[in-house]
Amino acid sequence: MSCEPVICLNLEETDLLASRLSKLIENTGAFICLFGDIGAGKTAFAKCLCKHLEVKQKVTSPSFVILNEYKSGKLPVYHFDLYRLENEGIKTIINELEEYSQGKIVTLVEWAEFSQDALPFDRIEIKIEYLGETKRSFTFKAFGETNKKVVEELLK
Ligand SMILES: Nc1ncnc2c1ncn2[C@@H]1O[C@H](COP(=O)(O)OP(=O)(O)OP(=O)(O)O)[C@@H](O)[C@H]1O
Ligand SMILES: [Mg+2]
Repeated sequence: MSCEPVICLNLEETDLLASRLSKLIENTGAFICLFGDIGAGKTAFAKCLCKHLEVKQKVTSPSFVILNEYKSGKLPVYHFDLYRLENEGIKTIINELEEYSQGKIVTLVEWAEFSQDALPFDRIEIKIEYLGETKRSFTFKAFGETNKKVVEELLK
């Protein structure tokens, strides 16, 4: 299921979008892939989402550490960035990603394109595009019944 893009004029609007998404996934969890160029706003969106899931720690970009885990919020959050993974690392992570899509957890994956398409079926994809200094578009794509309902509700 692909949808019309949501335009956010500034970070406050991105924060509001993340807030609304957080409410829709906080009882079920979700596996969310974030696509977009460098500086598009993948980490910024992840930070907003974590804030609304009441993560207490400071959320930082996982680009050097590959994975940050936050266990202080309404549900566990696993925040990946696959950009710097080497071949061996990719193989290991690919096998693990499926596990990170199970259960009541939120998994966020930046640069999911580096996983060579080995993504869990049930997922929400968000493509973020830079439209101007603070203007971004967010295009959602949902896979699986639960995620389709979440995205439908989000875009109502
Ligand atoms: N409406 C907006 N939505 C999201 N980010 C915004 C918006 N307006 C401005 N920004 C800024 O754009 C920057 C996006 O950087 P961010 O680190 O999130 O990019 P990224 O997609 O994670 O890049 P990378 O591929 O390097 O990880 C941040 O400084 C953020 O504050
Ligand atoms: Mg980032």
